[in-house]
Amino acid sequence: MAGTTSNPSAGLGTCPKTKGNATAVVGMQWGDEGKGKLVDLLSAEHDVVVRYNGGANAGHSVVIAGQRYALHLIPAGILSKGTLAVIGNGVVLDPDTLLKELDTLQSRGVDTSGLVISANAHVVMPYHKDEDAAREDTLKSGAGDSPLTEIGTTRRGIGPAYADKVQRAAAVRARDLLRPELLRARITQACRFKAPILGKQPDVEAMVATATAWGKRLAPMIRETTYLIHDQLRAGKRVMFEGANGTLLDVDHGTFPYVTGSSTGTAGIANGAGVPPTILTSAIGVMKAYSTRVGTGPMPTELSGDIAHRIRERGREYGTTTGRPRRVGWLDVVALRYAAMLNGITSLSVMLLDVLAGFETLRVCTAYQLGDGSTTDRFAADGAELAAAKPIYTDLPGFMDEIGAARSLATLPTPARAYLDFIQEKVGVPIGFVSIGPDREQTIIVGA
Ligand code: IMP
Repeated sequence: MAGTTSNPSAGLGTCPKTKGNATAVVGMQWGDEGKGKLVDLLSAEHDVVVRYNGGANAGHSVVIAGQRYALHLIPAGILSKGTLAVIGNGVVLDPDTLLKELDTLQSRGVDTSGLVISANAHVVMPYHKDEDAAREDTLKSGAGDSPLTEIGTTRRGIGPAYADKVQRAAAVRARDLLRPELLRARITQACRFKAPILGKQPDVEAMVATATAWGKRLAPMIRETTYLIHDQLRAGKRVMFEGANGTLLDVDHGTFPYVTGSSTGTAGIANGAGVPPTILTSAIGVMKAYSTRVGTGPMPTELSGDIAHRIRERGREYGTTTGRPRRVGWLDVVALRYAAMLNGITSLSVMLLDVLAGFETLRVCTAYQLGDGSTTDRFAADGAELAAAKPIYTDLPGFMDEIGAARSLATLPTPARAYLDFIQEKVGVPIGFVSIGPDREQTIIVGA
């Protein structure tokens, strides 16, 4: 296919917002911040894009020249011509989703020859998805007499695949898809472990046949990626690390247990790609101009009623992966400050500002009131503690006009600029990008 296809990203020229040769792009909220758009935008000035965490739970959508591309596993950087797109060892790989994504991209003329998969990435097997669903159903059915509710996972097998990685004995890695005897042994062992959880014996032969077929198709892409990434860095190439999900869903630092199974922030890059933590030269924090969350778990600024409905419809806040309507809320700078601190964010990318046009007042949560009446400006990385926190708001004037055609900060309405200034001041990190619509052109690069 290479040579007959052309990737849609035309390139935005040099962007002054990333310096050095190792850029991180991470989500600062509960996922869906718009990372795909930013990664696509910055791909033109990077040679390599690496996904380091998560799996097919993520949904990155990119709109280029009015065409929407929805990606779950393949790094959004693939849309930029000539980019090496690496699925790192920290990703849990769902070959079914990956192959569908590849087929779709190829049928739309995208050159996918730059895709490389780490031999050490763990494979999401069909029984992982079944286990994910079984656990969620069990939690749901016990909800009446238990303080534990379901997590509201995407049911893509993420947690069980990461759990098997840590359990080790029956985990399947991408490299195992190419080793028939070992593959059979691992799948047989895994099915023995899974039978009591699933209440049935998974069909080993069917599973082996499926995995063998995956291996055949993926073989040309499965490589050692740790040295590959280091070689690229040593050769002076620019590498971007594309985070999936969001900081508040981080397995250690998020709103546990209502989190995903991976390290979603910059800390996940070292393990998930095999690079030292000192490698990063820029860390871009992607945030929406308001908050959204999918699944259960606390969200202090959550809205209901008319305002929620308006934001949801204007922002098309429905999951890229599951189609679930997202919960929406006002901006929470307590959470954002926490995310900036954890990730060492060097510049902010504020997405979907256009969605907030038409509201007379914009509320921003700057502190929480706790159950004992005290106030705090610190985030609680615990589901139960955060559930007791009530938002304390600062109200700012809204902007009534649509802003999708603005191409500089100067052409934004004064209240929109004041809203951005407020974010910058309260989070304590400069804003580098403002997105005011889904298209690439609808992006203001601050100071460019
Ligand atoms: P899991 O990652 O499928 O196990 O889901 C765990 C939690 O993370 C659930 O609340 C999901 O809705 C949420 N989640 C996982 N990935 C994403 C994402 O990319 N965007 C938004 N929420 C996500």
